[in-house]
Amino acid sequence: MSAIVLKNSLKLKKSFQAASRYKKEFLLYSFSVILIILIFDGFSFTSILLTCIVFLLSLFHFYFIGKKRSGDIALIKDVFSNITKHTYKNSSEITLNEGLTDIETEIKLMYDKIQADIEMLVKLERVRKEFLGNVSHELKTPIFAISGYIETLLDGAIKDEKVSGHFLKRAYEHTENLNSLVEDLIGISMIESGEMKLSKRYFNLKAFIEEIIYEFSDMASNKSITLSAGEIRKGLQVYGDKSRLKQVFTNLLQNALKYTNQGSVEILVEEEDNLVNIRIKDTGIGISEEDIPRIFERFYRVDKARSREVGGTGLGLAIVKHLLEAHESKVGVVSKLNEGSEFFFILKKSIF
Ligand SMILES: Nc1ncnc2c1ncn2[C@@H]1O[C@H](COP(=O)(O)OP(=O)(O)OP(=O)(O)O)[C@@H](O)[C@H]1O
Ligand SMILES: [Mg+2]
Repeated sequence: MSAIVLKNSLKLKKSFQAASRYKKEFLLYSFSVILIILIFDGFSFTSILLTCIVFLLSLFHFYFIGKKRSGDIALIKDVFSNITKHTYKNSSEITLNEGLTDIETEIKLMYDKIQADIEMLVKLERVRKEFLGNVSHELKTPIFAISGYIETLLDGAIKDEKVSGHFLKRAYEHTENLNSLVEDLIGISMIESGEMKLSKRYFNLKAFIEEIIYEFSDMASNKSITLSAGEIRKGLQVYGDKSRLKQVFTNLLQNALKYTNQGSVEILVEEEDNLVNIRIKDTGIGISEEDIPRIFERFYRVDKARSREVGGTGLGLAIVKHLLEAHESKVGVVSKLNEGSEFFFILKKSIF
């Protein structure tokens, strides 16, 4: 019995404490009403009675306001502490009183935003770990091979001219791979950190593509693949960093030729308002549907064994993606296994 009385008196005390936060408002409110009564009615019995009633009513009024507010604040506090303790599985589990729907919506939005940020950070951390693992693996392979060749040479193979020539050539090839890997990595990190300064200007697309086709003609004819460009208007000028865009075309053409065994590789150009659609189309091995979303990731190769055979680290398309993003463009791909692939992107053109 005495415990119940104690509990209730504690509750009452708490509510009054909460209500006491509004004492200024309470005093201002009741005194202004009392003043109005006194002005209109003077110091009569009725006015004194009314004054007492007003005083008591406003006391109860503010007591209940205080009680309600402290209840609301306690509820909001509970929600925050539940968020900290990860009690909720999703934002729909967060509920407040009816009068607090605005705050509830805001807390839900904040909760969803925090969850999305955390997910992104976890993903970034995973990507970073994967990246470090891949880099070390890719560096280890050529270094291991080079040290193996040198060790064999030191063990005596150096005396055999034919064998030593072969080993030195292989070791040299691996140093070249190592060099291009490091250059690609530096390139990607420079684009990502915004350190890569682009020097954008208008240049002639036809001459640019003809030059690239010429550079790849040997590679194509060695594999008996027809390499050609479609119709390109003579005066067509596109806007961008010529040398970076050359890297884009080079990486895409290299892939098209690398992953095509027979048939053709074509560069197709289509003008549209102030844009140019560029497509690099091959009749190669194609890419399966499940691999397509991943090929632009750093180090992702569809067939690792085959990639090793034809060379490559899986950085080419990641570089293409980043470089085109730096040109406010986006690379896309359509592909069918054993039929071929088509990589496409847009560039801005001069309208004069
Ligand atoms: N035209 C294509 N046809 C078929 N598969 C392709 C084509 N282009 C890319 N791919 C697939 O996408 C993967 C990623 O390509 P990416 O250019 O990034 O790497 P890579 O060619 O293996 O190596 P790198 O370009 O760094 O020398 C390739 O390993 C290949 O499996
Ligand atoms: Mg490539």
